[in-house]
Amino acid sequence: MTAKKRIVIVGATSAMAEHCARLWLQEGPAEMVLLGRDAARTERVAADLRVRRPDADIQTVPLAEADFLNPAAIQATVDDLWRAGPIDVALIAHGSLPSQDECQDSLGACHRALEVNGVSPVLFAEALVGHMVRAGRGTLGLIGSVAGDRGRKSNYVYGAAKGLVTRYAQGLQHRLAGSAVKVVLIKPGPTDTPMTAHLKSTGARMAPVEGVAQQIVAGMAAGKPVVYAPGKWWLIMMVIRHLPAVVFNRLNI
Ligand SMILES: NC(=O)c1ccc[n+]([C@@H]2O[C@H](COP(=O)([O-])OP(=O)(O)OC[C@H]3O[C@@H](n4cnc5c(N)ncnc54)[C@H](OP(=O)(O)O)[C@@H]3O)[C@@H](O)[C@H]2O)c1
Repeated sequence: MTAKKRIVIVGATSAMAEHCARLWLQEGPAEMVLLGRDAARTERVAADLRVRRPDADIQTVPLAEADFLNPAAIQATVDDLWRAGPIDVALIAHGSLPSQDECQDSLGACHRALEVNGVSPVLFAEALVGHMVRAGRGTLGLIGSVAGDRGRKSNYVYGAAKGLVTRYAQGLQHRLAGSAVKVVLIKPGPTDTPMTAHLKSTGARMAPVEGVAQQIVAGMAAGKPVVYAPGKWWLIMMVIRHLPAVVFNRLNI
């Protein structure tokens, strides 16, 4: 009998993460650990996954919102997870889309946006990857964003935090080049999830979350360094990154 794959999801109540979990469970009866700041919501996600895959072993780990920003709590949580068994796959999915105007008006909002979208994912990644390196295996997925590819006036605080995740992932991939530990940076474009619900009324086009999750799971299985989801965002962001400032500064994006 082969051992069940052990999968950890940080920010497991994220719509993208939940759809990834469903896909992973379609592949086999995994052992899954779901971390979330809201215990009841995280348990609801777990209950739904248990119904979909009764032979899977699904646990929840509630973590206070403040602990998502606390290095000691993150290290202790990840150490505990590892003591229960080696982790094959970890996905770091939590994040929040702040109002750019609010970040400009309030340093508190700006600080929170930078911490939850930039610092916190990096601390989780560093704690998880330390164990993966010692074990000599594992795949770590980090959800960044196309917003991290070039600062834009409409969301540059969020973009700066996601840019931090991008640079971090690049450096980690450089460090781990040639090792069996894979680091996969996922850059979704606008996707239909609760995070973007307020943008739907403005007519913004969103990718279905099911397709984005499929690309995340496939990209992580392949150990790709970067996954744009949907894939067309690779080309769009390549053009945006290379636009000269004289053209870029005239765009209302
Ligand atoms: N949707 C998009 O268009 C889009 C595009 C690019 C990148 N992304 C990134 O994709 C990832 C998943 O987002 P999603 O689209 O699936 O959105 P979502 O369904 O709204 O999920 C957001 C997740 O982040 C958690 N979270 C929010 N604020 C938190 C905080 N202060 N501390 C700890 N956890 C917090 C939420 O927990 P609760 O359930 O407790 O609220 C939830 O698990 C995020 O990193 C996001 O930045 C999304």
